[in-house]
Amino acid sequence: MDFVETLLTDRLRSAVATVLGPGHAARDLQVRSATRPEFGHYQTSLPLRLAGPVADSPRRIAERLVERLDVEDVCLPPAVQGAGFINFTLRPDFLARRVNEILRDAALCVPRGEPQRVVVDFSSPNVAKQMHVGHLRSTVLGDVLARVLAFVGHDVVRQNHLGDWGTQFGMLIEDLLEEGHDGADLDLAGLDAAYRSARTRFEADAGFAVRARARVVLLQGGDRGTLAVWRRLVATSLTAFDEVYVRLGVELDEHDVAGESRYNADLPRVVDDLLAAGLLTESAGALCAFLPGFTTRDGSPLPLLVRKADGGFGYDATDLAALRYRVEELRADRLVYVVDVRQSLHFEQVFALARAAGWLPERVATDHVAFGTVLGEDGKPFKTRTGATVPLVSLLDAAQERATALLDDRGSTLQGAAREETARAVGVGAVRYGDLVNGLGRDYVFALDRMVAMDGNTGPYLQYAHARSVSLLARAGGSGDVVTLLREPAERRLAFAVTGFPGAVAAVAETLQPHRLCAHLHQVATALSSFYEACPVLSAEAEVRASRLALCRAAQRVLAVGLELLGIRALERM
Ligand code: ARG
Repeated sequence: MDFVETLLTDRLRSAVATVLGPGHAARDLQVRSATRPEFGHYQTSLPLRLAGPVADSPRRIAERLVERLDVEDVCLPPAVQGAGFINFTLRPDFLARRVNEILRDAALCVPRGEPQRVVVDFSSPNVAKQMHVGHLRSTVLGDVLARVLAFVGHDVVRQNHLGDWGTQFGMLIEDLLEEGHDGADLDLAGLDAAYRSARTRFEADAGFAVRARARVVLLQGGDRGTLAVWRRLVATSLTAFDEVYVRLGVELDEHDVAGESRYNADLPRVVDDLLAAGLLTESAGALCAFLPGFTTRDGSPLPLLVRKADGGFGYDATDLAALRYRVEELRADRLVYVVDVRQSLHFEQVFALARAAGWLPERVATDHVAFGTVLGEDGKPFKTRTGATVPLVSLLDAAQERATALLDDRGSTLQGAAREETARAVGVGAVRYGDLVNGLGRDYVFALDRMVAMDGNTGPYLQYAHARSVSLLARAGGSGDVVTLLREPAERRLAFAVTGFPGAVAAVAETLQPHRLCAHLHQVATALSSFYEACPVLSAEAEVRASRLALCRAAQRVLAVGLELLGIRALERM
C-alpha cells in the first residue's frame, strides 16, 4: 500500500468504527487506486461488502460512512458512486505538497521497514557456453531486483551461481586435449563449438566416452593438469560474460561469482548431516531425499538426488550447499533466486529439504522469482532459422543497429561518438525494458521492432520523455522550486503519477515484480506528454510557469531515478 492508501484506510477505519461499531473496522477495508480517472484517485467497495453483515443497503451504508469520514485535509468531499462505492479525490494543495516533498528529497524514497540482508542469485550462466537470450531474463531481472532492494535500504549480496562444475567438463577437457588445445587458445565461441562436438563424440565413440569418464575422475580428484585446463575454460568464459554484463549495464563482477565448484568441499558434509538427520534413502545406489508432497505426474514419489550412484554430486546437492553457505556464512535474511519457471519444483524441493534439515530458520524467507520463456516470432523458444541458439551479443548488436536507424528517422542531430553511444544506450535500454515490462511468469515474444520504437510502452519512449523534460528545463533557464498551483486536470494527473513513485518502488521490493516499476514510469511518461499538450509551460505567466516547471522537474527526477533502477540510461539528448 502506498502512503496515501494507508492514510485513507486508517481514516475509513475510524469512520467504520464510529458508524458501525469496532467489529466491522477489523476487516480488510480495501482502499485501492481508482479504476478510472472520473472516479477520482482512490476508491473502495467496502459498503458493498458490508451490506450483508450490516443489513442496510450498500448505498445507504456508503452515505452514512461519508458523513463521518474525516479526510478534509487530504481529499475533496468523498463521493458515493454507483451501487455503493466511495470515491476519493485528492485535494490539489495536498497533491502539490506531496510533489514538493519528492522535489526536496533527492533520493525520492524513504527506506521502508527493517533493513535486511538479501542474497540475490541471478544470471548464473554456464561455463563454455555463450550466453543466449535465455540468460537475458535472469540477468536483467536479477540486476533490477538487486538495485531496487538496495535502493529501499536493504543490504544486497549478489551471487552469480556459475555452472562451472560437473561431468560435462570432463568430456570437454578430454576433447580439447585430444584435439591439441590447452583451453586458453579458444575464445568462448570456440569453446561452445568444442563443447557441442565433444557431446556428439561422446555419444558416437565408445572409446572416447571411456576416456571422458576417466577425465571426470581426474578433474574431481584434483589432478593438476586437468584443473589447469578447467581454470582456463572458466577464465575465458568469465571474460566473455563480463563483456555482456558491461554492455548490458549489469552490476555484476568477479567478486559476485560463486560458482557451483565453490561448494565442492562442502558436499560431503551436506550428505553426512542429511544422513544423520535420517532424511536420505538409498535408491539404486544413489542417496535421495523423498519429501512428503513431491510426486511426479503419475503420482510416484519425486526424489531430490543428493548423491549419485557413482559417488558424484550434481545440481541438487550443490544448491543445498549454496543455500547453507548463504544462510550460515552470508547471514542472509532473505534468499532470492531469479531462475526460469521450469526449475520451480527443484527450488521447492531444495527449500523443503533445507527446512527439514534445520538449515533454513523460520526467519529466513525464500523467493524463487520464476520467469517465463523468451519466444521467437513463431511462438517457439527463440532460435535462429537453422535452429541454433542466438548469442546475446548478436541481439544487442541488432538492437543497436535499429536504435541508430530510429535516431536518424527522428531527425536526431547527434554526431560521431555521441550518436554511437546514444544508439548503444537506446538499443540496450530497449532490450532491457522489453524484457522487464512483461509479467514475470509469462512467456514473451522477443520482437526487436516493437522494443526499439519510440511509441508504445518501450524503453526508448521513456528515454525520450526524460530527454524532452531535460531539454525543456534547460530552455527555461532555471526551474521553479515548488509546485504551487494545480488547476488543470492534466497537471493534477501528472502530479498524482509522480507522487506514486516511492510506492511503486516499495511494491517492487516487496513483490519482486519489476514490471510494476515499468508500469509506473510509463504512467508518468504518458501523463507528462498529455501535460505538455494541455499546459503551455514556457509561455505561461510567471507563477503558473514556475509551478509547471517545478512539476516538470519532479517528473524528470522520477524518470531519471526510475530508469536508473531499471538499469537504463536516462539520456539528456537523443
Ligand atoms: N546455471 C543454471 C542454468 O543455466 C542456473 C543456476 C541458477 N541458480 C541456482 N542456484 N540453481 O540453468
